[in-house]
Amino acid sequence: MLTSAPSPNERLIVALDVPTLDEAASLARRLVGAVGWFKVGLELFAAHGPEAVRAIRAHGPVFLDVKLHDIPTTVERAAARIAELGVGLVTVHAGGGAEMVAAAVRGLGGHGEVLAVTVLTSTSDTELAAMGSEPAASQVPRLARLASGAGAPGLVCAPRDLPAVREAVGPAVRLVTPGVRPAGAGTDDHARAATPAEAVADGADLLVIGRPITRAEDPLGAAEAIAASIA
Ligand code: C5P
Repeated sequence: MLTSAPSPNERLIVALDVPTLDEAASLARRLVGAVGWFKVGLELFAAHGPEAVRAIRAHGPVFLDVKLHDIPTTVERAAARIAELGVGLVTVHAGGGAEMVAAAVRGLGGHGEVLAVTVLTSTSDTELAAMGSEPAASQVPRLARLASGAGAPGLVCAPRDLPAVREAVGPAVRLVTPGVRPAGAGTDDHARAATPAEAVADGADLLVIGRPITRAEDPLGAAEAIAASIA
């Protein structure tokens, strides 16, 4: 649950999408204080497991992006182990259902916050239809309400879905969005990138940003420029 508005730096989550823990730790070291969170994703976690979290945690709060989706008992037990690692945020799929989201919250036991991912932006409406699901525009706010109602204090959604999700869940839920690119930067593989200022204006609390920081010649300068753009 949000207590107060984060500062510009605190709003930044840098995605440490690099193959080795040495590279991730070196980036984290350089970015201490310039970003609010370090995101450990599947690549790093698959390579280094809990050790990755322990090493990165030494530099700041960790967002463990493992997108849990399994039967509620398994998710609850996994979340309980994750709670022991000392992470601040952990992702689950809202599509796992209310019972599964509630199980994740129980498993964490207050040692970190559950963020429920609505619909992956990589999934097209055509693909959703092939799976027998409704288009993202109607599914995302519904999943947001479901996960929030099940106790998830935060949600992950695409920039374009921020206004509808904010309207669906109200002001107290933490909204996190990837697909953010500084004005004038390339969009990489994001079909509909938003600038940091647009995402914040549309209701984002935290912004996930990877390559514009991690692949910059000066990662610290890049992070500081992004923070300045939302100050
Ligand atoms: O490098 P970039 O800023 O694109 O990194 C974005 C991060 O957000 C990556 O870790 C990626 O896995 C994650 N993400 C995303 N788009 C989504 C969901 C998650 O880019 N729709």
